[in-house]
Order: sequence, then structure tokens, then C-alpha cells
Amino acid sequence: MEIEVASGRGDVERGVWRNGGNDGHKGAAYLVWEDLTVVLPNFGNGPTKKLLYGLHGYAEPGRIMAIMGPSGSGKSTLLDSLAGRLSSNVVMTGNILLNGKKQRLNYGTIAYVTQEDVLLGTLTVRETISYSAHLRLPNTLTKDEKKGIIDGTIMEMGLQDCADRLIGSWHLRGISGGERKRLSIALEFLIRPRILFLDEPTSGLDSASAFFVVQALKNVARDGRTVISSIHQPSSEVFALFDDLCLLSGGEIVYFGEAKMAVKFFAEAGFPCPSRRNPSDHFLRCINSDFDVVTATLRGSQRLREADNLADPLGNLATSDIKAMLVYKYNSSEYASRTRSRIQEISTIQGLEIERIKGSQARWWTQLSTLTQRSFANMSRDVGYYWSRIGIYIIVAICVGTLFYDVGTSYTAILARGACGGFVTGFMTFMSIGGFPSFIEEMKVFTRERLNGHYGVAVFVLSNFLSSFPFLAAISVITGTITFYMVKFRTEFSHYVYYCLNIFGCIAVVESCMMIVASLVPNFLMGIIAGAGVLGIMMMTAGFFRLLPDLPKVFWRYPVSLMSYGSWSLQGGYKNDLVGVVFDGLWPGDPKLNGEDVLKNMFGLSLDHSKWWDLFALYCLFLTYRVLFFVILKLKERTTPFFRSLYAKRTIHYLKRRPSFRRKPSFPSRRHYNLHSLSSQEGLSSPIP
Ligand SMILES: Nc1ncnc2c1ncn2[C@@H]1O[C@H](COP(=O)(O)OP(=O)(O)O)[C@@H](O)[C@H]1O
Ligand SMILES: [Mg+2]
Repeated sequence: MEIEVASGRGDVERGVWRNGGNDGHKGAAYLVWEDLTVVLPNFGNGPTKKLLYGLHGYAEPGRIMAIMGPSGSGKSTLLDSLAGRLSSNVVMTGNILLNGKKQRLNYGTIAYVTQEDVLLGTLTVRETISYSAHLRLPNTLTKDEKKGIIDGTIMEMGLQDCADRLIGSWHLRGISGGERKRLSIALEFLIRPRILFLDEPTSGLDSASAFFVVQALKNVARDGRTVISSIHQPSSEVFALFDDLCLLSGGEIVYFGEAKMAVKFFAEAGFPCPSRRNPSDHFLRCINSDFDVVTATLRGSQRLREADNLADPLGNLATSDIKAMLVYKYNSSEYASRTRSRIQEISTIQGLEIERIKGSQARWWTQLSTLTQRSFANMSRDVGYYWSRIGIYIIVAICVGTLFYDVGTSYTAILARGACGGFVTGFMTFMSIGGFPSFIEEMKVFTRERLNGHYGVAVFVLSNFLSSFPFLAAISVITGTITFYMVKFRTEFSHYVYYCLNIFGCIAVVESCMMIVASLVPNFLMGIIAGAGVLGIMMMTAGFFRLLPDLPKVFWRYPVSLMSYGSWSLQGGYKNDLVGVVFDGLWPGDPKLNGEDVLKNMFGLSLDHSKWWDLFALYCLFLTYRVLFFVILKLKERTTPFFRSLYAKRTIHYLKRRPSFRRKPSFPSRRHYNLHSLSSQEGLSSPIP
């Protein structure tokens, strides 16, 4: 990584960021949180746990804030609360104000680099940044300007060495964890969001890389942006880059204020930082209860000499006591009163514009074409998405072709044609479930980008269809051609075209159904189970296993069979296959049977509408399912806050009746309990003698 990179972005980008609104107060984002409490309710099962204890604080534009604390102290919980992304099992109370007003801070208002890196493993680093840039940078920039920004970002994050390497996925070894992290940060850097949250961006990085990352964050802050980052054990150089510090322990504020004043506060509180110790190490040493265990262990092994013990005041006090003293001293200190008065000031600053902050400045059309290209690149490189399925389709189609080879027009061919049609439109389309895991990965990326406001739901839904279209078409044509000409259903070309269109419709509907399932279930295992169930029901009501007129009218015939792709595709497919064909009778000399009679009497189908209406209904169903997918995604976004606030109110009401919140444990999280391996416990060594 090179130092000059920080200045390597040129004037072009400076202009862009300014467009974002760094003139005076326009676009400035002052964030205030008051009495922020997060509770993990534990209805009936033991005491309720508080994760955050009524925190107060603020973040200002042009400054960078570090949230520090031992692991399990609530750093991520605080960031999630501010970003409106708490998980559904916890309840938050208190106020979060953006420029003095309550606002929802998700879907583009803020950019949040979470601890988990969600990326498309099939793309290279440069491609990922470049697609993201085209998705969000304004259309007014020229190609060269955008390229300048992309290259500048790659350099700024020190990614030039791995820029053309694949990120990597389950079957591809890719870039390292640190590089993934820097890439995730780079993606949010691109448009220099007004408020930037980062959860431990430097974990997994060596101290030089960590320094450059935080240095880059500081540059963003200097552009008038508000940056809040949780950070774990920073080096003294990194710590010196932060303007403000929020020190947490067990969900309580130990210190909030200017980072450089923290040393003074600790000294005033009676815990001065030894001259040769890194201040951030000292702070964590004072409040991290794990050190009690360390001290006890050292004492036990008599490695801690008596002299050392006396020299270090921390060695004589339990960290829980130190923490309690610090919290008490902070609350009665001038730092706390300064924080409170600053919160007051910020809340009353006049003339702050609360414009709708958007995560993307690109036009809708640019977003659609970029996202379609990216999705297509991902689909064509991910073996599991479509390629493996195409291979299986070819094999199964050849199996069907040989099994029903030249089916003919004998009496027994009627049943054979029926079975073959049922298999092709039923079981073969069922294989679409195979791409589910890959689709779930894409959905994860969508969720991350959507929460950061990179693009809208409609763009995602449409781009996904456009990019998958060539693959779906290829599957339909390959399967259709092999089976149609091996089984020799008909000789007319138009029947072949109908046959392929019918398969395409089925696969497209199945894909859409799977998308709906993917948007409703939490993981892909449940998705496959739920998806298989839904498709099983659709196949059952298609009219193959039980004729349509024989289906129970209530529920199964109406509405289930009408909503099932199987019933429409099978009706249309049978008509395409049988109308106009003459079959032999059962015995030699019996009268011939024509296809129309077979359809009516044996398959129970009515001929009052043509096969094209069936095909039309199938495509309408496809459209309906896609719209439904869109509506579900939208509704989830719109209704989740409503249901969450309802849940919060109900929980708070419940807790008021049962007010005993458990005092925080001396160890902030379960992770810190002393674990004993089973084998070390007496009498429990191992079941195997
Ligand atoms: N949704 C949740 N459900 C249960 N416990 C949670 C949840 N979120 C956080 N916690 C608990 O709250 C504490 C703080 O977690 P976290 O904010 O992730 O800590 P940090 O980021 O400082 O390491 C931990 O003990 C964690 O187990
Ligand atoms: Mg965390």
C-alpha cells in the first residue's frame, strides 16, 4: 500500500463529493442518540437482559468517531441500533435524531459496512467496484471520470495487487479475509456517503493496513461526512486518527467525548495511563473483565511477581470495580455534562436541511443495465447456478427421449404421451430448485446493497429476469428439441415452437416461485424444503395424478389448480400433442380414436379454449408471481418497522409489569465465561474408555 494514494483521487472526485453537498450546512448530518436502551426480552424464561443502558451521544460531520470496548460490550448493538438494523428478537427504546428530527436511517440514508462481508465470489475485485460505481455514481460523470474514481478507490484501499483476482466462493479460492474487508469498505467509499458506519473494519488487518484504512476514513470525514466506526484494539497510530471516542463496557458508557481527552479522564479518575502504554490498550485493560481471569491465571502460576503487583494499581482491583468507578466518575464529570449540552446545541441548530439522502445518484436505466450485466456475469461464472443444471437437463432429456422413443399412435401410445407430457412439464421443471443456493447468495448481496440504498427493488427483480433469460431459454430449447424430436410427438414446426414455449413458461414460473420462497425463508435449507413442498402441491394439482374434473372443487380445483403452473402447461401441452392425431383402437379392427375425444374422455379436458389461451394463462401466472415477488420485498421493507414498533410496545408494556431487569453480569457475554472442556471435568472425561 502506498502513501500517495490518499491524494491520488484527483480533482474529479473532489467535484463529485462536493456535488453530494458539502457546502455549508447543506447535506451535513448531525446524529444524536438519547437514552438509547436495548433489551433482550426473555419472556418467562429467566431474567431480561439489557444490552445497552440508556446511552447518550452524538456524531458530527467532519469528525470520525471510534466506538471501543471489549468484545461483547455492545459495539455492534449500538451501531445496529443507530442504523435501524437490530435483529428482531431485541427491543430498542430511546430517540435517534438526524438533524434534530426522528428519521428512519435505513435504505440509503446511511452506508453501513457490517462485520460480515457479503460479496459475489465470481467477480474480480475491480469488477465488483466498477459495477458498484456504475450503479451509483451520477450519470453526469463521463466514463473516464468514473474510471478515475474506481482506480482511485482501488489504490486508496490498497487493493491494486489483487484487483484482477476473483473474490472466491465455495468452489473458488479467492482473495484473503483482509482484502475482502477492504473491498467491502471500498464499495461504500465510492460515493462518500453522508453518514458512514463501520463495524470493526480493521479486524483481520495488519497494523499498517489498519492505519491506511482508518486514514482513508478520516479523509472521508474531512469531506464533511459523519463517520462512526467500532474498532477493536487499535494501535496508538490508529487511535490518534480518531476525533471522538465512545468507550463501552457491558453496554454502559465509560467515556464519551474527544478521543484525546480520554487519557486525561482516566488520569482524573485515578487510572492514569502508564507513559509507555498505548492509550487504547490501557482503556481496554481497565474495563475488560477477561483481564481478571488473566491476572488470576498469572497469579496461580506465580509468574506475576510481587513487585509488579504493587506497581500496577489495576492488578489490585477487579475490572468490574474499575469499570463501575469509571462509569460513576464519567456520569458526574464535566465530559458528561459537555456531551449533554452539545446534544442540546445540535438539536436546536437552525436551518439544517433534511433532504432525502439517497444511496445512488445513477439513473434507473443505468442501474438496470449495470445490474443485469453483473447478474449475468455471476450466473455464467457460477457453475452451480445454471451450467450444472443444463448438463442434468441434457442427460434427463436424452433419458426421456430414449424411454419414449418414437412413441407413435398405437392405443398404448395415448398413455405414453400423457406420461411423457406429465414428466416433462412436471418433474423436469422441478429441477429448477437446483439453482436455489446460488440465488440465495445473490439475495444476500441484494439485501446488503438495498439496505445501503444502492438501487431499488424493481431494478433487482427486473435485472434478475433479464440476466437469467438466456439460460432459461437455452434450457427450454435444449430440453424441448431433444425430447420433441426423439419422442416424435408431431412433425409440424409450430408444435415444436409451442412445446419449447410451454417448457420455458413452466421453468420461468418455477423460478419465480422459488424467488418468492427465497424472500420468505431465512436460509437455503429451509428454502429447498419449502420450495419442494410448494412445487409438489403444484404438480399434484396439475391434472396428471388426478384428472382436473375429479379434483375436489373446494380448495384443490379452485383456487389451487388455477394458481398452479402445472394445470395450464399440461392442458396446453396435451392439446398441442393430441389435437388432430388419430390413434388405433384397443384391438385390431376397433374404430380409430381421434385426439379430441381422447382429450375430453380420457384426460378430462375441455376444448372450449385453444392451447394458446393455456400458454397465455401460464405467462400471466409467471408475471403474477414476479409481481408478487416484488410486492413481498416491498412489503417487507415497509411493514417491518411497523411490526417491530408494535412488538416493542407490547414488550415494553410486558416489562413494565415485570420491571426487574437483570443487572448486567460481571462478564458481559457468555463468550467470557470460563469454559472447561468436557475431558477436563472429573468423571466426564470421555464416554469411550
Ligand atoms: N440479537 C441478539 N440476541 C441475543 N443476544 C444478543 C443479540 N445481539 C447482541 N447480543 C448480545 O449482546 C452483547 C453485545 O453484543 P455485540 O454488540 O455484538 O458486542 P460487540 O460488538 O461489542 O462485540 C453480547 O453479549 C451478545 O451476545
Ligand atoms: Mg461486534
